[in-house]
Amino acid sequence: MTLAGKRIVLIISGGIAAYKSLDLIRRLRERGASIRPIMTRGAQEFITQLAVGALSASHVYTELFSREDEQDVGHIRLARDCDLIVIAPATADLMAKMANGHADDLASTVLLATDRPVLVAPAMNPKMWAHPATQRNVSTLKADGINLVGPMAGEMAESGENGLGRMTEPLDIVAAVERLLDDAPKPLAGKTAIVTSGPTHEPIDPVRYIANRSSGRQGHAIAAALARLGADVTLVSGPVTLPDPTGVKTVHVERAEEMRDAVISRLPADIAVMVAAVADWRTVAPADQKIKKQPGEAPAPLRLTENPDILKTVGHHKYRPKIVVGFAAETQNVEDNGRTKLERKGADLIVANDVSPETGIMGGTRNSVKLITKTGVETWPDLSKDEVADRLAQLIAGRLNGG
Ligand code: CTP
Repeated sequence: MTLAGKRIVLIISGGIAAYKSLDLIRRLRERGASIRPIMTRGAQEFITQLAVGALSASHVYTELFSREDEQDVGHIRLARDCDLIVIAPATADLMAKMANGHADDLASTVLLATDRPVLVAPAMNPKMWAHPATQRNVSTLKADGINLVGPMAGEMAESGENGLGRMTEPLDIVAAVERLLDDAPKPLAGKTAIVTSGPTHEPIDPVRYIANRSSGRQGHAIAAALARLGADVTLVSGPVTLPDPTGVKTVHVERAEEMRDAVISRLPADIAVMVAAVADWRTVAPADQKIKKQPGEAPAPLRLTENPDILKTVGHHKYRPKIVVGFAAETQNVEDNGRTKLERKGADLIVANDVSPETGIMGGTRNSVKLITKTGVETWPDLSKDEVADRLAQLIAGRLNGG
């Protein structure tokens, strides 16, 4: 809930990208923000008040001279009673009005009356964006302290023309909102971190591979949590279906050896958190062609060889990070096995958990972990993987800063 308690006024102006602002509302609310939507006349040509009202669970403000709207909050309170005003999509016309201080409808009046930060996500035809008038307005808005996100390059929905002008995707607008509203302390500012996440896939032939049930949720959450505390994070991820976390550099790999190379090439770093469920073995020589079954014959045995242990390599490396954290996925003797791994792999901390199928941890959204260090064991309550990630990031920050 990165936007918990944040109040956002969302101005939707009239462009085809308005349909994406419906998704934007959902994404912002998912993260805990409350939304007060304002729609211009143009916006109402593209999407309905009903859809915006239902998704935002709010009254939709449309008129400057509406007795009902003015009695509800009034345009001055609408402009000030929020943490941020987001305009998505922002048309060339609305940006021109803002740059010149017009106030002839509700949206432009709120924008002139506000003393809150404003984020603009422009969306328009590439020729309109490139026009000197629009570019002059963009410079003026920037000089006025207005924040811009996008536009992006790509094909226009209506004309098929290519060029700069597409509205930034909703999740990237959310990331920009999170950055603007992030007032949390940054105890990991200036620190670098490497996190591994997900399974690895070890090929048998071009269509088959050895894998495991890791979803990558815990590793991705840790990468995002470290980044929220200000760390410069590289996430090395095996094949997962999750989106890349915001504010993190994500490197995609398939095999354990690729993961090892990606991790080692990023040393030195201050922090390493090895969460990936790396396959212990790979096939000695993956077949170039799909292996065919021979009717009546026993299947050929798979010849396996051990994969490099990435955590152990990092834990004993000459550029060993100041804090090395490993995970231990166990189905029995969780503490003993965790302690052995701490020693053997040269880690400072092992986050051990019981991944027996009945716990639902592997592939699930919750986790119950034990923290094993050289000096003892701490048992954390059952938490969401995001909560485990936040706590672990705080603990790492505390240790790194001498706590
Ligand atoms: N790990 C690693 N490279 C490997 C195997 C494991 O970096 N080739 C890391 C994992 O990311 C995790 C820790 O080592 O942080 C422990 O992983 P786990 O699978 O529990 O341990 P293994 O060493 O594979 O031991 P076993 O499978 O025998 O329990």
